[in-house]
Amino acid sequence: MCGIVGALLRSGSVTEGLIEGLSVLEYRGYDSAGVAVAREQGVEVCKRSGRLANLENALRESGFGASPAGIGHTRWATHGEPSDSNAHPHTGRSGRLAVVHNGIIENHVELKRELLSAGESFTSETDTEVLARMIDRHWVEEGDDEDALLRAVARVVPRLKGYYALALLATTPRGPVLVAVRQGPPLVVGVTEDGGFLSSDQLGVLPRTRDVVFLEDGDVARVGPGRLQVTDARGVEVVREATTIAWDPSDSGKGKYPHHMLKEIHEQPDVIARTAFDRIDLGAGDVRFEGGAFDDAFCRSIERVQILACGTALHAGQIARYLIEGLAGIPVDFDFASEFRYRQPRVVEGTLALAITQSGETADTLAATRLARELGARTTAICNVAGSTQVRESDAAILTHAGPEVGVASTKAFTAQVAAAILLAVRLARSRGALPEHKARELLEELRMIRPKVESLLTDAAIARCRAVARQHAGKRGFLFLGRGINFPVALEGALKLKEIAYVHAEGYAAGEMKHGPIALVDNDMAILVINAAGAVAEKTRANIEQTKARGGVMISVGSDDASHAIAAMSVPVPVTSEWLSPLLNSIPLQLVAYHIAEIRGCDIDKPRNLAKSVTVE
Ligand code: AGP
Repeated sequence: MCGIVGALLRSGSVTEGLIEGLSVLEYRGYDSAGVAVAREQGVEVCKRSGRLANLENALRESGFGASPAGIGHTRWATHGEPSDSNAHPHTGRSGRLAVVHNGIIENHVELKRELLSAGESFTSETDTEVLARMIDRHWVEEGDDEDALLRAVARVVPRLKGYYALALLATTPRGPVLVAVRQGPPLVVGVTEDGGFLSSDQLGVLPRTRDVVFLEDGDVARVGPGRLQVTDARGVEVVREATTIAWDPSDSGKGKYPHHMLKEIHEQPDVIARTAFDRIDLGAGDVRFEGGAFDDAFCRSIERVQILACGTALHAGQIARYLIEGLAGIPVDFDFASEFRYRQPRVVEGTLALAITQSGETADTLAATRLARELGARTTAICNVAGSTQVRESDAAILTHAGPEVGVASTKAFTAQVAAAILLAVRLARSRGALPEHKARELLEELRMIRPKVESLLTDAAIARCRAVARQHAGKRGFLFLGRGINFPVALEGALKLKEIAYVHAEGYAAGEMKHGPIALVDNDMAILVINAAGAVAEKTRANIEQTKARGGVMISVGSDDASHAIAAMSVPVPVTSEWLSPLLNSIPLQLVAYHIAEIRGCDIDKPRNLAKSVTVE
């Protein structure tokens, strides 16, 4: 949600690097973009509503000159419509300070009222401008140098309610100053001899250095070439250790693909392999996590699992429930993270709260996990970002190795989460003797052999089948996705993919639930994708296909159940695998169908309207 970048160089111009950083972070929000750079006499701002390209044009036309220090922002609007005036950066009245912000200042109305009565005026409807004006006023009172600015920040921060990540750029008599403040949303800093860099996520710093510092809540950091000074929430100077990021900066590009989403779909054979294979111990018919995590004693002490996640990650969580209950026999609940806090949840002794999140920065998931911890649960995470807040706050974490996921629609992160959930379920099952060694080995062997099956879904011929489904049905009024058992969450995920990138109304439904109401929606303008894997529930799902077909529904079958293909109007066959693993395969054609429908409908696939990749507001 909103991308922030900042840089203070020893020499040279910062503008190009800021734009490069914003282009990497644009997935966090794309309602507007802006930059501010430091000049001797003050800060200069250029900002535009709409995509980053609008800002780039404006910068070219205005002949925005070189400066060694600047900040930039790409916005997902929270306060005030997307417009030039509401775009960040916002400045103080002195013209010497600019601020970019990710998050929400909840008491901004009250603070604004106070400032208005003190004679302040505003040019935008944003909470950020309130901040900029406030810090600037205090700075003027405190002096004009860097220390005075820090004193001003220290006066303002305790008055703010909400969560925010800020980058402040100021012009002082001794040169430009770059300051970062974190209270909630992530901020990452990287320092080299050539410059100090900050960004909302590691992708923004990665082109400069792989050694990054994740700021913590309450931190205020001064950033510059060879310099990182951090004070914590108590105002005490602290050293924050750097983490070396394994990702390659080129991983966040599109490669030969027209969209990040398509590239990420194609990465899934590698991603599943990277996440699962090295953790499989076929000899023992078991799973080994790094550092001996999830050992027998820990696993045996788990009486109940509470899954917390949002969106796609929650669908992976729902699949995890089938796996953990089915293989390990441990009761599992799952909740929308955004709802968990509002239903007075009961956390019994022995509960493991399992957060599932690609980014590790989703505000709802973080808040729900914190509550679970407060209520006595131990916490763990399945997460894709090593240094993220979710990982740092968890007692244990299983990292997925999906690499950077840039497309707003999650694809490879989802299959990686499912792969991690399979591993966790097997480990839990083995630790308590719920799954005999030979059965576990059989399942793990099947997982170890799954790569060619995943690849077979990404051949030209397989993609052509998905494209044919898309062509045939792109104009339909609505879509239903049906599945049973472990493939019910796959249906939910298929519907979410279509909604978010193609803007078509779609519902995921439990196949057996259709006859209890939704079947009334069925006519020949409704496309119905049924996910049916050969296995325990295949026959029952087939019966649901027949019931729906009899009402004029246009049936498309996806999966390994040949008999379903025989009775459907169109089909996308998927290789046979264990039913436990079938979501890894069945979800891929659904991603491709959504992708191609979105393409046919001319949608902006990597940046769907109204969305942002990382949702750091509640
Ligand atoms: C998926 O396509 C979505 N963009 C969204 O539902 C996402 O999965 C959700 O916001 C959770 O994000 P996280 O995995 O980073 O926590």
